[in-house]
Amino acid sequence: MAVEAAWDKKRAVGHFNVCDSNQYNAVLAAAQALSLPIIVGVSEGERKFFGVRNIAAMVSASRAAGMEVFLNADHTYSLDGCKEVIDAGFDAVIFDGSHLSLEENIAATRSVVEYARASGREVVVEAEIGRIGTSSKLLSAPPTDIDKELTSPEEAAQFVRETGIDLLAPAVGTMHGRLIGGGEPKIDLARIEAIRSAAGVPLVLHGGSGSSDEDLAAVGPAGCSVVHINTDIRVAYRKGIEASLAADANEIAPYKFLAGGVKGVQDMTEKYLRLFAGL
Ligand code: G3H
Ligand code: ZN
Repeated sequence: MAVEAAWDKKRAVGHFNVCDSNQYNAVLAAAQALSLPIIVGVSEGERKFFGVRNIAAMVSASRAAGMEVFLNADHTYSLDGCKEVIDAGFDAVIFDGSHLSLEENIAATRSVVEYARASGREVVVEAEIGRIGTSSKLLSAPPTDIDKELTSPEEAAQFVRETGIDLLAPAVGTMHGRLIGGGEPKIDLARIEAIRSAAGVPLVLHGGSGSSDEDLAAVGPAGCSVVHINTDIRVAYRKGIEASLAADANEIAPYKFLAGGVKGVQDMTEKYLRLFAGL
């Protein structure tokens, strides 16, 4: 699949979160414009709003039309939540047990892997160790629930060995969200390389918004085969809609005032896809 091809090329596939069909169409248009594969992610809140079956049906229709799009259930905190999306036909699921002890995280993740393997389909299972925050939002200060200690290669190797996951999300310096006052997290590229070689599976970088373009362009070659962007997609959507409404405060046709948001999301997605693909 796209992630293996990305690893071979030492580049990353872009993962973008969406919560409705407008955002979905926008990120897909970006991928199509650049002829690149794309992963669409929906968190628990996003898929509740979108509808698990709705997003699964849209992705299936896009694929039938020849597009290289994959559907991921982002940050899922329970086994039941993982089972729901696996049963609904998602391509991938992230079990997020990063708030648990390492032992509890390993045991719970293993249950998700077992369920995925028993599904009879090829479902990619990702899990997270180390805490990088939970919300894709604008932050006045760094979240308190992020790890000061980043993931170690030894811990990563043990986690992969004992869970059988396909992809690993480690803590390597990023955080979910973006600081309102600016300030870029520094991504530990040497750590990514060490974890990638110890863990033996492709890595996923979470919390992409807010990092420098230079760092984000370097994570693919270092060993992250997927990069997640959410906050900047949300900001682009809102800003685009605000600009449309500012241009005509009496506009009430949703297909008109939402169009600015769709354009904003498409442009933002294209920017990141180029960066990750080294274009
Ligand atoms: O899972 C989603 C992300 O890791 C997004 O992070 O909101 O900082 O872009 P971000
Ligand atoms: Zn994330």
